Amino acid sequence: MNEKQKKKPWAGRFKSELDPIVQKYTRSVHVDRRLAPYDIQGSRAHVRMLAAQGLVTSRDEEQILRALGQIEEEIESGQFPYRDELEDIHMNIEYRLQEIAGEAGGRIHTGRSRNDQVALDLKMLCLQTAIGWRAQILEIQKVLLERAQELKTSLFPGWTHLQAAQPLSWGHYLLAFGEMLGRDDRRLAFFQELHSTSPLGAGALAGSTLPLDPERSAQELGFAASFANSYDVVGDRDFLLELLQIACQLMLHLSRLAEDFLYFSSTAVNWIELPDSLCTGSSMMPQKKNLDVLELARGKTASVLGHATAVACLIKGLPTSYHRDLQQDKEHLFATIDAVIGTLEVIPLVVSGFQINQERVQNAMKQGFLMATDLAEYLVTRGTPFRVAHERVGKLVAYCLEEGLTLEQLSLEKLQELAPECGPEVREVLKLESFLRRRWHKGSSGLVSIEQQIAHWGERIGALS
Ligand code: ARG
Repeated sequence: MNEKQKKKPWAGRFKSELDPIVQKYTRSVHVDRRLAPYDIQGSRAHVRMLAAQGLVTSRDEEQILRALGQIEEEIESGQFPYRDELEDIHMNIEYRLQEIAGEAGGRIHTGRSRNDQVALDLKMLCLQTAIGWRAQILEIQKVLLERAQELKTSLFPGWTHLQAAQPLSWGHYLLAFGEMLGRDDRRLAFFQELHSTSPLGAGALAGSTLPLDPERSAQELGFAASFANSYDVVGDRDFLLELLQIACQLMLHLSRLAEDFLYFSSTAVNWIELPDSLCTGSSMMPQKKNLDVLELARGKTASVLGHATAVACLIKGLPTSYHRDLQQDKEHLFATIDAVIGTLEVIPLVVSGFQINQERVQNAMKQGFLMATDLAEYLVTRGTPFRVAHERVGKLVAYCLEEGLTLEQLSLEKLQELAPECGPEVREVLKLESFLRRRWHKGSSGLVSIEQQIAHWGERIGALS
């Protein structure tokens, strides 16, 4: 047996060396080294628990803790000797611990398996990620709120089916994303609560004959509780998949925002403009100013959906308990985290930076009969059944289309000819400026509601930051 084979903790049972092709195929340290800080934290809690339970001496505990400190420094400074032949980050750290602390290092894996170890590390990383995402979401919400306040009375043509529908305030529009992200934030908060269970002490699948105290290490690591069932917890990846599912929802929201902004700033629409600092050019066409950053937000959303689907497929065919397939979960997790963090970083720049091309928007507002529904509702207030009102306004719109007029340009006589219920105040109803004033109920796009929303988010964000 050569030096490399001796390093394997399971070497005792094996008669021949691992084939190098299999070694290369099964290793994961190039990916899971990202778990190192959590592995060290988990090992610290584990050795303290072992010492408290009399399973290692306080001298061993001290030596192990000191060696873990050194390993931490080596990793941070890029000096840590990663070894592919030791498969993963867990065995790399344990091996290095033995190199530094000698026999004491050989005691760290007492009552522990890589199965509970990897579940612990992953869970800590996922919970930490949720904290980070929530902080980033809060930053976006602050920017959304600021711009909503600034643009609460500024209107543009809202759409359904991509067809002009009714006016919408930019403030109301931006606050819609505040709501979407608010739901994502609550999903993450519930995620943190639901998965605050430490797997440490579950061992390979069945716990240990040694007098472990999983509750102690759980507490030290900041979990609300330790696992209730060792068999459940070693194979549990609900938390990982759930984080990716939350990422899907979050990215879908950001992708829709990106798509909207791409549309708003397209050459044909041209309602908004982004600062040059957020845009890129073309290698061939000198005049181009592209919003690649938003296209990439859309594109990265596709990747995240793929990663979540991949993990769901990974788990779908698995029997209960730990299986090595689960090693693959990390690639998807890490790629998702990077895509989400990057997108959450970029979106606030876009929201704070966009400028409205008022002339283009005002022109667009004159088209599409945006006040037709308000007119029909005005007829309802004059006693007309809504179905009849709808028909009458439809006829007025048809007349305008024939004559090349807007509803606002119609004379009172013409309005009364096709909709006899109209009084002189109808002129006021048809003015775009009345749109924000004539809606009162909660959640509507009227100014009262927009101000309520701003106050609500101001309070929430104030309380959180
Ligand atoms: N590298 C493995 C993973 O990430 C660690 C667990 C290995 N456990 C085992 N019994 N082979 O899933």
